[in-house]
Amino acid sequence: TNETIIPQPKTFGPLGNLPLVDTKAPVQSLMKLAEEQGPIFKMDLPGRSGNLYISGRELVGDACDESRFEKNVWAPLQNVRSFAGDGLFTSWTEEPNWRKAHNILMPSFSQRAMIGYHDMMVDIAMQLVQKWARLNPDEFVDVPEDMTRLTLDTIGLCGFHYRFNSFYRESNHPFVEAMTRSLDEAMSQLQRLGVQNKLMIGKKAQMRHDIDYMFSLVDKIVKERREHGNQGENDLLNNMLSGEDSDTGEALSDENIRYQIITFLIAGHETTSGLLSFALYFLLHNPDKLKKAQDEVDRILSDSAAPTYKQVREMKYIRMILSESLRLWPTAPAFSLRAKEDTLLAGRYPMKQGEAVNVLIPVLHRDKDAWGDDVEAFRPERFEDPSKVPDDAYKPFGNGQRACIGQQFALHEATLVLGVLLRHFELADGANYELKVKETLTLKPDGFTMQVRPRANAP
Ligand code: HEM
Repeated sequence: TNETIIPQPKTFGPLGNLPLVDTKAPVQSLMKLAEEQGPIFKMDLPGRSGNLYISGRELVGDACDESRFEKNVWAPLQNVRSFAGDGLFTSWTEEPNWRKAHNILMPSFSQRAMIGYHDMMVDIAMQLVQKWARLNPDEFVDVPEDMTRLTLDTIGLCGFHYRFNSFYRESNHPFVEAMTRSLDEAMSQLQRLGVQNKLMIGKKAQMRHDIDYMFSLVDKIVKERREHGNQGENDLLNNMLSGEDSDTGEALSDENIRYQIITFLIAGHETTSGLLSFALYFLLHNPDKLKKAQDEVDRILSDSAAPTYKQVREMKYIRMILSESLRLWPTAPAFSLRAKEDTLLAGRYPMKQGEAVNVLIPVLHRDKDAWGDDVEAFRPERFEDPSKVPDDAYKPFGNGQRACIGQQFALHEATLVLGVLLRHFELADGANYELKVKETLTLKPDGFTMQVRPRANAP
């Protein structure tokens, strides 16, 4: 029947569909194409196979069946392997180091483990509060930059007892510079043809240099810990160095530890920084939701400058704001799945073993069948009753056993920070900022600035 014919947008000779993808904004190009083509479409991209994109609830729900599909380390992630190797994010499930590291590191990310990170998260959050409290009334804050300072410092301290001290720097920490350039280059390689990539000698040398820098920073962190021994730090690094796989009794190799640290430094801050930036953007543009959020933090944090662990858990509306921000702009916007065997996707699209589908999360999160007609509206109340969140239509943290290990960490941190900021500051859209989404491996509101004023009733 017609239903099984998969649409494809117009092609351009040997370039196929490549010209339809904006190099600087591939996800946003694909979102537009999904709007025109529907919940499943294919793209012909030179040198790349497996370019099926899905974004409807039924198709995504079926592809998330882990008995028939598994995580695909697709081209964007393969390019990141030059610095993240077989770390948790970029490994195939069948690579031995995936399960090993998964078993060893899972306990570091339980809800309970957050109790141990809480005070360190507060330490960094208060550095941001102090920075903003000292601004003059006419000054602007660069939101994504400050959120990146905050999230990098938080994963550095909680994960490795390493202080990036980003709030004491005018510009990004060199690790962020090296990481951003490497991620940019990894993404740019996707848009170039094979021959073009071979010609990019300068870019390659820069990437080599950046990767060497990241490795040297990580090796310094490990060396210091090994030399000074564990001083009672119960952090990720401690688990990486001394943890044993409960299945096999094996420990992680030095090479793999290096990849894991890079992975956590990157995965642990880029996405959370984007989430906090989008959440602040949405609050500025939705004064009624902002008021509701302020009422909540005034009630829960009435006279406490910084929240306790328990108070963070009580800030339910703040948490709903984060969920709704991740619905509209999931900061890790896509993941890929491949068939474990020949199968029919959604009972009608034949897929060969190894064939892949890429999930466009922002489009899934705007599926009107699942969410209703007001999909573009920022309405945290959608998440009031968790049982009413539509099944298979909300995947900001990926799927199944390969879903985000850092979800609780990200949400605890972001709830704490957003709560504290709203308790201390009034927000003002002094620059009349218009949303422009910047893409690297993740999404951020590009050039988003605002003004903040200490609140009259702040603790
Ligand atoms: C995996 C999103 C924060 C560490 C993933 C995946 C998504 C995601 C979608 C699955 C990727 C795939 O299937 O290819 C997010 C979002 C975050 C966030 C939206 C913040 C709002 C964090 C944090 C950490 C982290 C804070 C660490 C502290 C990881 C790791 C994986 C992962 C290690 C790979 C897990 C595995 O496959 O075993 N994340 N993440 N993430 N995330 Fe996150």
